[in-house]
Amino acid sequence: MHALDKWLRNNSISRKTFSTKLNISIATLSRYLSGNRIPKQEIMQRIIYLTDGKINPSNFYIIKNNNSSSSFKNYKNDHLLGIENLKEDEISSLLNRADEIIKENRLEPKVNQKYNGKTLVNLFFEDSTRTKTSFELAAKRLGIDVINMQIETSSIRKGESLLDTAMTLNAMQPDILVIRHSLSGTPHLLANKVNCGVINAGDGQHEHPTQALLDALAIRRRKKQIKGLKIAICGDIAHSRVARSNIKLLITMGAKVNLIAPSTLMAEGLSYYGANTFSNFKEGLNDVDIVMILRLQRERMQGSYIPSAKEYFKFYGLDREKLSFAKSDALVMHPGPINRGVEIDSELADDINRTLILEQVELGVAIRMSVIEHLIHNLEFKK
Ligand code: CP
Repeated sequence: MHALDKWLRNNSISRKTFSTKLNISIATLSRYLSGNRIPKQEIMQRIIYLTDGKINPSNFYIIKNNNSSSSFKNYKNDHLLGIENLKEDEISSLLNRADEIIKENRLEPKVNQKYNGKTLVNLFFEDSTRTKTSFELAAKRLGIDVINMQIETSSIRKGESLLDTAMTLNAMQPDILVIRHSLSGTPHLLANKVNCGVINAGDGQHEHPTQALLDALAIRRRKKQIKGLKIAICGDIAHSRVARSNIKLLITMGAKVNLIAPSTLMAEGLSYYGANTFSNFKEGLNDVDIVMILRLQRERMQGSYIPSAKEYFKFYGLDREKLSFAKSDALVMHPGPINRGVEIDSELADDINRTLILEQVELGVAIRMSVIEHLIHNLEFKK
């Protein structure tokens, strides 16, 4: 039942009386309630006023989305904590909606008022350019208020624990909490304590689900499908949450995954998911469609894993010569930030015919909009 219908019933108001108050026909009101039409701005304002803010634009978009071809019903979670445990149809639902959003993002105006009145809090305990900015942009494009918590000037500096901080924010009733933290499992811990949707924006070396989703979207758009592709993930696998999320997602979607790294930077146990491991670049790149390069994640290293950056580039840095071992139309991806001359040759990084680095950034906004829409949809439906 539409939230407005529930509100009318709870307040003993008939559809006819309410439509008269809105100065519209009962047939028009019925179209709003069935999801066939979205109220115009002035009607929406009047609905918000008459219902004392209990009904807002998201109630109408949610019903419309539920009727649309990109079925929100396939994704049943209130949170996005990782790729682990996501099924193929859940991943496809997130990708399909993002595909639609890309087209919407290329039109003017980019901002809509779909989720006016909703609030998203960005809680980043680690540095970020792409993820934090794109969550902020994604939320704003959906009409959502965004709070960027400044960790360095917050009460965490006075000794407040992470859990107490999260509970404090939760008391202000945000709808979505986006968290990045150096400790693996932090988003999972918070999700058990708060009653809003939680999105993992990267936890330690565990998972970075929205990065894997945007990477999958980029691959699907360029290669038409993921199933059957051979994809190499190269570099610092051991410390990479991007690698872990990508391995799970790509294998779930039917790709073959090769991991290429020196033995000091290869993670144990990833072959458990079905990935093949290589220490030799030439062997690992044989016949691959996509080459994903990872940076050395020095912030998570304790000790020395490579002799020198120069030596590392010689054996594991991607340049045109090494890329020639892959298929002739293989594309290069990198989650960023890139370290030129360490894991990737500078000139190759700038070749837009071979690399998708900036395209990945663009798709990151659409993926995050899709994830936010899915979570709000699920949280609203449970009310
Ligand atoms: N790829 C990625 O997570 O980049 P940021 O650290 O800049 O967010």
